[in-house]
Amino acid sequence: MYANVLKAGCRTAAHAWKFKNELGKLRLDLAKANTEFTHHLLKENCHLTEHLDTVISSKQYVKQQKQFYRDYSSLSYGAPLKYTEAPLLGDLCQKYGFVITRTSADVGLNYVATGGHRFEQRRNMSTPAQKEFKRLPTNVVPTHYDLELQPNLEAFTFEGTTSVHINICEPTKCITLNALDIKIKTVELVINDDKLTPNNISYSTDNETVMLTFDKELSAGATGVLKMTFSGELNDKMKGFYRSKYFTPGGEERYAGVTQFEATDARRCFPCWDEPAIKATFDISLVVPMDRVALSNMPENKEQNLENNLRRICFDRTPIMSTYLVAVVVGEYDHVEGKSEDGIIVRVFTPIGKKEQGVFALEVATKVLPYYKSYFNIAYPLPKMDLIAISDFSAGAMENWGLVTYRETFVLVDPKNTSLMRKQSIALTVGHEIAHQWFGNLVTMEWWTHLWLNEGYASFVEFLCVNHLFPEYDIWTQFVTDMYTRALELDSLKNSHPIEVPVGHPCEIDEIFDEISYNKGASVIRMLHDYIGEEDFRKGMNIYLTRHQYKNTFTEDLWAALQEASSKPVAKVMSTWIKLKGFPVVSVESVQKGDNQRLLKLTQTKFTADGTAPDGDYTWVIPVTVSTSRDPTKIAKTFLLDQKSMEVVLDDVSADDWVKINPGTVGFYRTRYSKEMLEKLLPAVRQMVLPPLDRLGLIDDMFAMVQAGQASTAEVLQLIDSYRNETNYTVWTAITNSLANLHILISHTDLMEHFNRYGEKLYRPVADRLGWNVRENENHLDTLLRSLVLSRLVSFRSKGVIAEAQKRFRAHADGQNPIPADLRSTCYKAVLQDGDEQIFNEMLQLYRSTDLHEEQDRISRALGCIGNVTLLRKVIDFAMSGEVRAQDSVFVIVAVAVNPKGRDLAWEFFKENNQKLLQQYQGCSLLARLIKYLIENFASEERAVEIENYFKINQFPGTERTVSQAVETIRLNSNWLKRDLDSLTTYLKSQ
Ligand code: BES
Ligand code: ZN
Repeated sequence: MYANVLKAGCRTAAHAWKFKNELGKLRLDLAKANTEFTHHLLKENCHLTEHLDTVISSKQYVKQQKQFYRDYSSLSYGAPLKYTEAPLLGDLCQKYGFVITRTSADVGLNYVATGGHRFEQRRNMSTPAQKEFKRLPTNVVPTHYDLELQPNLEAFTFEGTTSVHINICEPTKCITLNALDIKIKTVELVINDDKLTPNNISYSTDNETVMLTFDKELSAGATGVLKMTFSGELNDKMKGFYRSKYFTPGGEERYAGVTQFEATDARRCFPCWDEPAIKATFDISLVVPMDRVALSNMPENKEQNLENNLRRICFDRTPIMSTYLVAVVVGEYDHVEGKSEDGIIVRVFTPIGKKEQGVFALEVATKVLPYYKSYFNIAYPLPKMDLIAISDFSAGAMENWGLVTYRETFVLVDPKNTSLMRKQSIALTVGHEIAHQWFGNLVTMEWWTHLWLNEGYASFVEFLCVNHLFPEYDIWTQFVTDMYTRALELDSLKNSHPIEVPVGHPCEIDEIFDEISYNKGASVIRMLHDYIGEEDFRKGMNIYLTRHQYKNTFTEDLWAALQEASSKPVAKVMSTWIKLKGFPVVSVESVQKGDNQRLLKLTQTKFTADGTAPDGDYTWVIPVTVSTSRDPTKIAKTFLLDQKSMEVVLDDVSADDWVKINPGTVGFYRTRYSKEMLEKLLPAVRQMVLPPLDRLGLIDDMFAMVQAGQASTAEVLQLIDSYRNETNYTVWTAITNSLANLHILISHTDLMEHFNRYGEKLYRPVADRLGWNVRENENHLDTLLRSLVLSRLVSFRSKGVIAEAQKRFRAHADGQNPIPADLRSTCYKAVLQDGDEQIFNEMLQLYRSTDLHEEQDRISRALGCIGNVTLLRKVIDFAMSGEVRAQDSVFVIVAVAVNPKGRDLAWEFFKENNQKLLQQYQGCSLLARLIKYLIENFASEERAVEIENYFKINQFPGTERTVSQAVETIRLNSNWLKRDLDSLTTYLKSQ
């Protein structure tokens, strides 16, 4: 019987009850598998933690762990629990208690199984030491919250009450839950007709918990209602329950109350079990001023007028869900409304007077819902879907179930003033957040270690969705420069981390919302999608979402479903990509065999950014694909490279044919060709016979080899030179990104003029072809390409382009002829880089005259281009003046820091103002972003040492890994410069 339970999961309480009776048998079986393990299970006081590392490699442990979570979630949350069955939960918690405190990554990290053998994965020595951290005890768990919040939008405080329905699983006198920066005013526990109050309420700021201790022991199996009243500050830190500033059409300053709970900030709003696996249902109500809009995850079901011009709004009960997805908003908003084809009400809330700007997102959202419904073959489970533009918002957007919050620039489209790039990004963002409604909200990661499941997957699916809605965007090609190459770049550092990473303390959790979780996560899912094919992928997704709906998962659950759907070894292939840091470079040589066959010899090694030998023994299971000149768009062969080296034979290849590895740039690896193979490919690049993504992949790989010291910069510049006639937007983006890295190096030399001349020559032909004016029915990508190349030519100081840009700016600023949104940044930069104080002031005027955040961003970030150091200091002062929102200041300072003239200035500013910045941004991903850009463009060992020491003395929690990565980048720059300066000088001077 228990075999069935293991296979199918424990779906009902009754089922679990039977399972309990089988535990004896299970113990016997476990004894067969691992006697020590059983021994420990039976001994209550054993030191399991120490012992786990030997036990975990046993499959039984993993099964046990998964089984616990299945039982636990179906018992305590999913299935209505009968009173008589309640003891079972306590029993389970007791039996599996140790499992709950660990996650599969915690225990599984040190060993990765590949190709039937095991090898050790070394711990990254530079990874910050992990802080002492324990997950919440599970002796008491919530099943339902009644939650009422009453914000005071003038005094910036809030009052709250909550009644939490709880199950006591183990006899205890203590209840521990999360709470931070809120004051719990009263507590009463109603249990078995008793009303108990705790004799002690003790907060732990370090653990972000509160422990309630009662005199009387609460008996296992009991259920109760824990009633608490509390209050807090509506803070200005953009997390928890916070205030967001807006202006009425009459110009009056007002505040909205908004929540942002992911990852661990629900506890700042109400006392709760703030972990993704502790799901419960919520009845939310808000007490708000009469004239304010009040929203939450579910539709409103009741309204009640109260004294003092207040009203209470009650919302329908939510499905069982995680606390980080709970949301409320109280403020003044307009909205537009629509209905999706499958009957879901969709509304987009905007600042007053801007509802037209919500129309684009509304169209996207109403189309996206039925698209996902048919894609996943599961309906959207809530009756409504709200999107809302929030004026102060630290991230880009947040997927709260039924109430998705957005930064204004990530949702509002003003047809006259929104660039095409922004619009595209809004479509992707809406697609991303709505994907989370299934993947993340309906099925949620068991712990933050599996965060990548959420973010990597949504970052992949957003492209599927935009490709469906806007095929003209050619969005999958853009994926490669947007996601994939950026992931490779970061992941080649020693200070990268595996996708699945053990995290505990909230500041460790915040730090993994990074390009590894998002970009590498999305890239390996794209590789997997390609490996198993669209149909099986979809089938597997449906299995996964159906099987685990309203519950929590581990990464392995996704592999199991996809493996079931495809009958391919998904877990074997994927585990290396998830558990290993970095990625391989595949070196290829070929030998012609007779007239018609080619022997390929492939070898994989770990790719390292500095070209040094890898720090361990790494072998990935790589799905390799190959194309040839016989048909550049067709896959000629597919195979798994699961060893260090391998030989394969290609048929139908003559001596003249070229062979391309990784067509479409789908595999998450780089390729190093033998000299002969590369030479054969180059004409195909020049003649653009090789498809765009292959041209792109080739240049990106080459450039990475140069940075790693395995080819010279001059060589790659020569290669780039042959892309002069390139027409594809994304290929140009890849070239531009590579040259941007080189530009940083050049900025530390006296070669800038020569570099500018090289750049102008390279970009001129494509700019001439496109001209300044949009053609009728112009292709989407040409519009993007025009912005890209003109902006590059402005930085390369192309006289003609700058003159034209200045002319257009004058007409724009004088109100005669507005510059199209797509070209505005370019023109602003053109006037600012050589601008004086007058231009600076004129720009500030423009900034003050618009209320469109997108336009404010464009202007304030362009200010960073100014060439004059005194004015750059004023730019920083402006960024910090309060006139720029805290959510945007970081980007303005970054714009100064990435300007070589502002580099030292910005770093000095940071050091002088570190406490102020820390106070504003602590625990917010914006701080890590600021630090990264402030420091990573230096290029000397002295700077690396200085910065390293600075961050040893000054602690910025949650930015440790970013600092290590940036310092590593400084050293890479420094070595690259030393190595190539001479050849670079010779090459550029010869141009
Ligand atoms: N879940 C995140 C929002 C988030 C990010 C919460 C960081 C907490 C910390 C959301 O789904 C997301 O990924 N937002 C992106 C935008 C998206 C288009 C990639 C963001 O905010 O950058
Ligand atoms: Zn996301």
